[in-house]
Amino acid sequence: MKLPELEDLRPVGGKRVLVRCDFNVPLTGDVITDDLRIRLPIETLVWLLADGAEKLTVCSHLGRPKGKPDPKYSMAPVRERLYELLTARGADTSRVELMENLRYNPGEEANDPAFVATLVENEDLYVDDAFGAAHRAHASIVGPPQFLPSAAGRVLAREVEVLDGLMQKPEHPFVAVLGGAKVSDKIGVIEALMDKVDALVVGGGMCFTFLAAQGHSTGGSLLEESQIGICERLLASAEAAGKRILLPTDIVVLSPGGVFGAGREPEGELRLVGPDVPEEWLGLDIGPGSAAAFADEIISAATVFWNGPMGVFEDPRFEAGTQTVADAVATTKGFSVVGGGDSASALKLFGLDDQVDHLSTGGGASLEFIEKGDLPGLAALREAAARHG
Ligand code: 3PG
Ligand code: MG
Repeated sequence: MKLPELEDLRPVGGKRVLVRCDFNVPLTGDVITDDLRIRLPIETLVWLLADGAEKLTVCSHLGRPKGKPDPKYSMAPVRERLYELLTARGADTSRVELMENLRYNPGEEANDPAFVATLVENEDLYVDDAFGAAHRAHASIVGPPQFLPSAAGRVLAREVEVLDGLMQKPEHPFVAVLGGAKVSDKIGVIEALMDKVDALVVGGGMCFTFLAAQGHSTGGSLLEESQIGICERLLASAEAAGKRILLPTDIVVLSPGGVFGAGREPEGELRLVGPDVPEEWLGLDIGPGSAAAFADEIISAATVFWNGPMGVFEDPRFEAGTQTVADAVATTKGFSVVGGGDSASALKLFGLDDQVDHLSTGGGASLEFIEKGDLPGLAALREAAARHG
């Protein structure tokens, strides 16, 4: 996919640039627990300053404050970190302003033309480096490209290059590993991936709907009954196409009434069972046999895409499956791409976040790109390029 790039905006000298970033970082109180989304776009800001931009007006959303100011989602901690990082790069921070949270204004999510007008007022150029928000047709994403010469920043451009490459010309064998709670959220992604992959590996809460489709009992585990038919069809069409869908063959289960989750006093008995979960027991992680089989698949792949944990990894009793998969994704010689969100948090927890080839900054955005091959933010940039030549 061809997107306008920073160089296409030249001359940048003396211009005022509106830069949309995705600084939606995880916070505990006002402490940023992972600053990746601030660190990466520094490259773009430094490039614009070095190329002579007079002023950068940087903007982002943070959390979901629902259209009104909420001190919980103030950009203050982000601003502090941003200036630290820019200063460390020797950048002239007097030319950089970070706006307050875009979502303090209801016009942002509503894509209100009046709000777009305030954003582009006094700006000459627009740079979108907010890959994580490119699936949102919000004012700051799709508005400015209608009025200003626009380009993708380095983070956005790299994300699209990697994910587009993954879907257009992956090296085979291509193995996709999907986990997470809900299969209903991932049907479109699974269908898009099935066309491209050699094998699809399924763990996490979503595996139980597939296991149910194969006739297994799932006990009290997560199950989306309305999706069983779709899973049956996916299994059948994969088989017809000569592709493999790997499901867990063993499962770590917790006794009925057991307590689990991050930071909770653990309660209940654990057992390792076959693919059938006893009545009322909860499947909360894939077992060691499944994890080893999944890891073999990943290790011998030429291309790996991973999104979603294999179990409730926030609870140490149910982290082993996710850890084994994370280790395999980190060590495979294949080109490894990890979707954002929970799989990124898991990699960070296990200290493996710098050992994959591409760690996406977008959870929802990367899945939607894989599913649809395009995003509103990308289309807006292409249209701007067509308009401004
Ligand atoms: C994300 O964290 O996935 C992006 O920043 C988008 O945030 P949103 O899901 O609140 O739109
Ligand atoms: Mg590798």
